[in-house]
Amino acid sequence: MRDFDETTITDAVLARFAATPDPRLREVMQALVRHLHGFVREVEPTMAEWEAAIAFLTATGHKCDDKRQEFILLSDTLGVSMLVDAINNRLPAGATPSTVLGPFHVQGAVEKPLGATLSGAAGEAMRVEGRVTSADGTPLPGAELDIWHSDADGLYDVQHHGEPPELRARFRADGEGRFHFTTIAPTAYPVPTDGPVGAMLAATGRHPMRPAHVHFMIAAPGHRRLVTHVFAAGDPYLDSDAVFGVKDALVREWTRDADGVRALRYDFALAPLT
Ligand code: BEZ
Ligand code: FE
Repeated sequence: MRDFDETTITDAVLARFAATPDPRLREVMQALVRHLHGFVREVEPTMAEWEAAIAFLTATGHKCDDKRQEFILLSDTLGVSMLVDAINNRLPAGATPSTVLGPFHVQGAVEKPLGATLSGAAGEAMRVEGRVTSADGTPLPGAELDIWHSDADGLYDVQHHGEPPELRARFRADGEGRFHFTTIAPTAYPVPTDGPVGAMLAATGRHPMRPAHVHFMIAAPGHRRLVTHVFAAGDPYLDSDAVFGVKDALVREWTRDADGVRALRYDFALAPLT
């Protein structure tokens, strides 16, 4: 086969993948070709635009290293991460919704006792407490919580030069599934903008901000691991999160206790493994 033109090239490429031994890989590659060709047919890029697209993807790759993942940020800001998350987390009624993991989770954070105070970060002290249950409300004793968040300047510990403040920890819930600790209240912050994704946001008139949130990853035997955030009610970016991660059920008033200290109270419900 030769002499391909606008009307024959797509079927020819699809046919070239028809003998892919792994059926899932065949499905993925053929869908990629169909959608990519459809996109090109719709957009009709000039050669200069095609070169700019290649340069953008090349720069995105060059920006990646062991601390920075610009492709994930691209997926996040195009809403693809949240779409993949939604498809993979069709949860039963009563379960706490998931949202994006984000690039700042670190495996093996230090485990602290319940009631610990994270220290060294600038910001307003905030109590965080709640309970972990199954979707039907049954408490999950000993549930493992991994928490992380930014500081009052919008920076995560891994973004600090020198000795980082404590902005992450792991806790084990008590015999009734309860947890509590004290940290500082994070603020809204921009996703990294010093790479091609930042340039894309600027060129399209989009802001890079995420509303203030605390990240939680929660695990308990017999249940699906929950990756989520709790967002601060009233944050000006709740309806325009740069990565489309906000869900109503994850927005909570960060109140103030009688002694004036801020408090975030949230109960998490995990979906049972089916
Ligand atoms: C975060 O919440 O940490 C995050 C998520 C997606 C992109 C950048 C940051
Ligand atoms: Fe975050």
